[in-house]
Amino acid sequence: MKIDAFAKVNLTLEVFGLRPDGYHALRSVVVPVSLCDTVEVEPADELSSDSGYSDDLCLKAAKVLDPSRGARIHVVKRIPAGGGLGGGSADAAAVLIALNELWGLGHSRAELAEIGAQVGSDVPALVTGGSVLMEGRGEKGAPIECPRLNLVLCNPGVHTSTAEVYSVCKARDCADTSVNDAMMSALHSGDLEKIAAAFANDLTAAACSLHPEISEVISSLRAAGAIGVSMSGSGSTVFALVSGAERARELSAEMTAKGYASWPVVTR
Ligand code: C5P
Repeated sequence: MKIDAFAKVNLTLEVFGLRPDGYHALRSVVVPVSLCDTVEVEPADELSSDSGYSDDLCLKAAKVLDPSRGARIHVVKRIPAGGGLGGGSADAAAVLIALNELWGLGHSRAELAEIGAQVGSDVPALVTGGSVLMEGRGEKGAPIECPRLNLVLCNPGVHTSTAEVYSVCKARDCADTSVNDAMMSALHSGDLEKIAAAFANDLTAAACSLHPEISEVISSLRAAGAIGVSMSGSGSTVFALVSGAERARELSAEMTAKGYASWPVVTR
């Protein structure tokens, strides 16, 4: 059984205070995009994965779902690791959905999303699928409407550590709803200029201070005339909003020619 595991971008990512459990309270508009990994699960006596990662979220997801069962997990990776696009989390979400079927467990999507919270903060939103307003440490997700957006993803080739970026970021006042209000009204209007103006990511300064290459990509995409530019998750991938698929392909080709990994994508 094969499932596409879609990457996500964070159109907003607001970080509030540190919680007693060591995670930050956050609010984020999470939107899936067309770049995907492909996850395949097959029946087997033992549990195995060919990802090669020591902290394989696919194996973690399978064990959280049912530690007593086996399966062979194969992932075709296209989403860069450590890139803020939720690749590992998307793969884990796909494993939960696929093994729920393969093992005949009969969990609902909502139950799988709840189980996914034990695997990683981004997993519940990616199990739910579609655009989501994420809150809590990531476990709360409410579906929202997002118009079809043409984006260019651009990765400077550095891996960020999510824990390290969070540890140096400056949290904001949780009473402030202006960022989210602006994005909700912009998405509702469908106006690209307004959507771009509402982009926000509280982890950007921290990620750029640790990896200045990220600032270079942001500047380069801005100079190329993108409508808006922002970083996804804890980086290192940056995304640019452009006016159509043709412009996305052109800008992505320009960034590739500059030596970056880049993909034209569309929101789903
Ligand atoms: O949940 P996940 O494994 O993706 O989180 C990785 C790290 O990112 C956590 O160990 C924590 O340091 C940081 N984090 C956080 N607050 C969140 C999500 C992640 O501080 N809401």
